[in-house]
Amino acid sequence: MTPNTDLNIPLFERAKALIPGGVNSPVRAFKAVGGTPRFVKRAQGAYFWDANDQRFIDYIGSWGPMILGHGHPAVLEAVQKAALEGFSFGAPTEREIELAEEILGLVPSMEMIRLVSSGTEAGMSAIRLARGATGRSKLIKFEGCYHGHADALLVKAGSGLATFGNATSAGVPPEVVQHTIVLEYNNIPQLEEAFALHGKELACLMIEPIAGNMNLVRASVPFMRRCRELCTEYGALLVLDEVMTGFRVALGSAQSVYAKSIPGFKPDITVLGKVIGGGMPLAAFGASRAIMENLAPLGAVYQAGTLSGNPVATACGLATLREIKKPGFFDALSARTRSLVDGLAAAAAAEGVPFSADCEGGMFGFFLLPELPQNYAQVLKTDGVRFNQLFHGLLDRGVYIAPALYEAGFVSAAHTEQDIADTVTIARDVFKSLTK
Ligand SMILES: Cc1ncc(COP(=O)(O)O)c(C=O)c1O
Repeated sequence: MTPNTDLNIPLFERAKALIPGGVNSPVRAFKAVGGTPRFVKRAQGAYFWDANDQRFIDYIGSWGPMILGHGHPAVLEAVQKAALEGFSFGAPTEREIELAEEILGLVPSMEMIRLVSSGTEAGMSAIRLARGATGRSKLIKFEGCYHGHADALLVKAGSGLATFGNATSAGVPPEVVQHTIVLEYNNIPQLEEAFALHGKELACLMIEPIAGNMNLVRASVPFMRRCRELCTEYGALLVLDEVMTGFRVALGSAQSVYAKSIPGFKPDITVLGKVIGGGMPLAAFGASRAIMENLAPLGAVYQAGTLSGNPVATACGLATLREIKKPGFFDALSARTRSLVDGLAAAAAAEGVPFSADCEGGMFGFFLLPELPQNYAQVLKTDGVRFNQLFHGLLDRGVYIAPALYEAGFVSAAHTEQDIADTVTIARDVFKSLTK
């Protein structure tokens, strides 16, 4: 493909004239890796095709939602049927109850749930709920975790624990982030110090349990245990942001993974998105009845949405959840993801490329580092230039991974053994060119 024949290029030029950066969400712009984004024409199963009709094995899956792959027949049928019945009513539907029943049945830490349209909205609302329920203002988040783009969460660490974070975006006034404390992920002494200083003023601690926004970094079991203990001790709410991990790493989500090592473990509030909408705009937050009853119209915490619980989105989400509930679904998905990660590690080792990787369920991450990082500062040690070479090498050969080294990858039920084997063969070829 030469620049003269690449049909993605004129599309990107047209888009840039109309839409800031040519994209409706920044990471799609390929700014970190350089080059022209692929404009998707259509997708099916584990693949999508771009403007040139080039096929890509898709390891992004819309950044997580497409756990069944694209165009799953049961999902398509449910969506088509729902669309014929009406797009949006602004009045309740039975399907919202069914989706709530389905989700609450699978994640028992929640007794009630509220459906919204994006993970950002869900995270923002969860914080308002935590503040309303506790009557406190401060919150803890961790460097490298992303919880959507609500003002109070676009924050990086300040100069010390006694100071509060600095906004990472223009347009966020310092007063808005003055209650946000940003700590290092997996750092227990720092966590304890922060609680000792601010514990009684904390509304909540918000965390990605398996962080997918710094590639893939797990909260260690001792760290997660300490988060839970300190929240309980100081009366702060533990908010697990499972927008990415929810129904992606296990049927019971990441909280069920931690509950295997921490008996009785559960968060106070869970934030969900991505898979529960199956690719449609749908997200949610849920908690115990006592916490959720603080929400309007029952309680004093206001929260609302014109398209919340949208009938087509709920049909899509329900059909998706009903598929992933089928016996053996997660065992098969986990095995496929594991074979990808092991295959990539073996290919990298064979070509002498430093490499470490991890996965859980259908989510994976890898680093061009000899050991798995434990926090954001360690993730930053990845060689960005080499990652970009790897990204473009894979892309040119028809394998689409996230165009930034800070993002997790996703395997779907539609990825075949052959797709994985092809990916590993291609990756080995690219690793070979990296070592030169
Ligand atoms: C962990 C996490 N929380 C929240 C969000 C925000 O979700 P949305 O993009 O739907 O607003 C994301 C998005 O990637 C996410 O990964």
